[in-house]
Amino acid sequence: MINLQPIRKNFYVPHPVVQKRSQHEVDEYRRSREIYVKNQAPNPIQNFSEANFPDYVMDSIIKQGYESPTAIQAQGWPTALSGKDLVGIAKTGSGKTLAYILPAIVHINNQQQLSRGDGPIALVLAPTRELAQQIQEVANEFGHSSYIRNTCIFGGSPKGPQARDLERGVEIIIATPGRLIDFLQRGTTNLKRCTYLVLDEADRMLDMGFEPQIRKILEQIRPDRQTLMWSATWPKEVQKLANDFLNDFVQINIGSLQTSANHNIHQIVDVCQETEKEQKLGTLLQEIGNTLDPDSKIIIFVETKKKVEGITRTIGKYGWPALSIHGDKSQNERDYVLRTFRTGGQYSILVATDVAARGLDVDGIKYVINYDYPHSSEDYIHRIGRTGRSDTTGTSYAFFTPSNYKHAKDLISVLQEAKQTINPKLSEMANRFGLGGNRNRWGQNNGGYQHRNNNGPRQNSRWNNNGGSQATYGSYKSY
Ligand SMILES: Nc1ncnc2c1ncn2[C@@H]1O[C@H](COP(=O)(O)OP(=O)(O)OP(=O)(O)O)[C@@H](O)[C@H]1O
Ligand SMILES: [Mg+2]
Repeated sequence: MINLQPIRKNFYVPHPVVQKRSQHEVDEYRRSREIYVKNQAPNPIQNFSEANFPDYVMDSIIKQGYESPTAIQAQGWPTALSGKDLVGIAKTGSGKTLAYILPAIVHINNQQQLSRGDGPIALVLAPTRELAQQIQEVANEFGHSSYIRNTCIFGGSPKGPQARDLERGVEIIIATPGRLIDFLQRGTTNLKRCTYLVLDEADRMLDMGFEPQIRKILEQIRPDRQTLMWSATWPKEVQKLANDFLNDFVQINIGSLQTSANHNIHQIVDVCQETEKEQKLGTLLQEIGNTLDPDSKIIIFVETKKKVEGITRTIGKYGWPALSIHGDKSQNERDYVLRTFRTGGQYSILVATDVAARGLDVDGIKYVINYDYPHSSEDYIHRIGRTGRSDTTGTSYAFFTPSNYKHAKDLISVLQEAKQTINPKLSEMANRFGLGGNRNRWGQNNGGYQHRNNNGPRQNSRWNNNGGSQATYGSYKSY
């Protein structure tokens, strides 16, 4: 309802070399890096100098020692710098954070300075507190040379210091939705100056768990803002919803148009019974321990908070001291745990719920173990993506039980796309249950595995002390 000053969003000055490239050369480059673009986008750049970033940005890139832009950066930077709305889908660990942070810095430096009482120019929304803090680190590293101030707004920490940052004025806010809404309602900050909006892990941010909060925040931001959404996965269900928040956008996919995992990860699926998992984990840890270089880290994903506690205790008893993280721990403890895990040393194992599934970039994770299979192949892709970051490699394991049968077909597609060996037992399970549904073509239920509780005497297992089934609404789950 307020009178909006016009804004400038296009700051892209193409490098003459980039501009002169023939369509054939551009197509060839896109093909070689598996860049797929929907709608009109500028030519991709092929090295850092072609991005035409200002010196203060180039200096920080050089300091990192990166050799060349990743594919999503090569196509994402010119597109974002030219002010377009953008959906960027690229594998885990492929540098999406910098793909949106560097254009944010340029965008901010081309806006009028903040006045007293102004809110941020750029807003980055992320699903977890730890991810928000990690993004802040990147913003610190790359924004400090141009004196861009930022703050991280997230629940579970005292409001005072966050409020003081907001009152002083910051150009970038990196936030989880709940705490930001709280500050917006109190009037501690506002989004009237916000012209650059990022949803990191956008499919997660738009799913049922977050969507109402996202709507609430986005309706306070001017409609002609630039909106950028990023993830490694982009399921159909959120694509339509995303249209509500984007204008005439460019979509960039790297590698594949289907749901796909990072190909640097060796994926192993062990089809087993629920009751066998405990022993299998022990064997696996032992195997890894015997061959492991001392610095490599392991992350074990389980379904419930309670089970995180149980497994941490049990493996600890058997001589594998482990850290653990889930949503019922205090923020202090969560911060301590992640800091310790990042540092490495005595603790090289982290047991976690899906709170650690998305976006976290921890050096040295070589193994991801899905003790419990997640609720979707998207979640699986994000979880295993904690290894194989940047140009490193890693290995993932998944214990897949008869009660996970519904996911067999999707998992096989993910494995096939990544040219992984398919466990015949998994294929058998997928075939038995047909095309994803649990009804055959005569409309009768299939027999066998679909009985949810035929997965052995759960209550007898030392680790299955989760006291019954957890809400399986996927996105509603509280991790
Ligand atoms: N051009 C580059 N060359 C080499 N390494 C890079 C480059 N850009 C970023 N990186 C590094 O790659 C790692 C992964 O980056 P980032 O966390 O942004 O990945 P992501 O695509 O967001 O992954 P996820 O989907 O899991 O969130 C980081 O450690 C980052 O420093
Ligand atoms: Mg990321």
